[in-house]
Amino acid sequence: MTMSKPVEGSAPGKAILVGEHAVVYGRPAIAVPVAEVRATVRVAPAAPGQGLTIAAPEIRRRFALAGAADNEPLAVAARLALHHAGAAEPDAVCTVRSGIPVASGMGSGAAVSAALIRALSAFLGQPLDNETLSGLVYEVERLYHGTPSGIDNTVVAYEQPIFFVRGQGAEPLIVGAPFTLLIADTGVRSATKTVVERVRRARERDAVRFDALFDQVSDIALQAREAIASGNIGALGPLLDENHDLLIEMGVSSPQLDDLVETARFAGALGAKLSGAGRGGCIIALVEDDLSAEVRDALREAGATRVIATTVA
Ligand code: PMV
Repeated sequence: MTMSKPVEGSAPGKAILVGEHAVVYGRPAIAVPVAEVRATVRVAPAAPGQGLTIAAPEIRRRFALAGAADNEPLAVAARLALHHAGAAEPDAVCTVRSGIPVASGMGSGAAVSAALIRALSAFLGQPLDNETLSGLVYEVERLYHGTPSGIDNTVVAYEQPIFFVRGQGAEPLIVGAPFTLLIADTGVRSATKTVVERVRRARERDAVRFDALFDQVSDIALQAREAIASGNIGALGPLLDENHDLLIEMGVSSPQLDDLVETARFAGALGAKLSGAGRGGCIIALVEDDLSAEVRDALREAGATRVIATTVA
């Protein structure tokens, strides 16, 4: 009989404030955790000889790790955790739950991997520091993104706002004054890998134009960092708007995303843009507290399937 106790691990969703896509090409980006939506994994001991079972009741899945395919994301995350711990497969059940919309640019995949690896490592008596966790989640992300910049795994592992440059890691973002974002989901699912690949092909056809777009995004990210550090939230709104225009030029927006962005601005948001890979998923809108309810209602009326409010502090 095992003596292990049940262990829980969790990780937040995330939103990219500025810099998606350009970040894949070495330009800086800013991402924030969205603690209001989380992935949680509970690991509980099972009867001897049972091996490791992974259950995701919300999507009605339950399978044994031993029989899982090589490209099953939850199995990849679990195997990485076991390998890192140098541990044999324990007799246990990992139950995965997530309130993060999937394939919506909110980092659902990275958060689920982080929660699973965190919980399983702790269950094995080897809790991970954030840096190690981030590195292991990156390995899982690589399977699905192809060429992930590393921003998703970093922000969900550290759970704090970051200024991120690929290959240089992250620095914590200084937030001079807290601000509120509304995150509105178009309800259109979009695979990051597909959109990243589209941008790669478009850039291959016209590197000069794309690199110029990425450079403009880079300026925006630097200005946004400055505005946030000095608490000048009024200056941040137009930067989000400019970033959205550049994302349109990269070909990653969509009529639904543009519609929600317009709706948010018209209802009084200080600025708005798509967030994440695009072609679907979510927009973010920067709102002052007194107009937050109005913008949220307008987004719902315009067809947002979900609106999440988060405070960046
Ligand atoms: O996972 P998403 O949809 O938030 O996209 C991540 C951001 C990209 O810049 C599009 C890709 C990357 O690896 O940084």
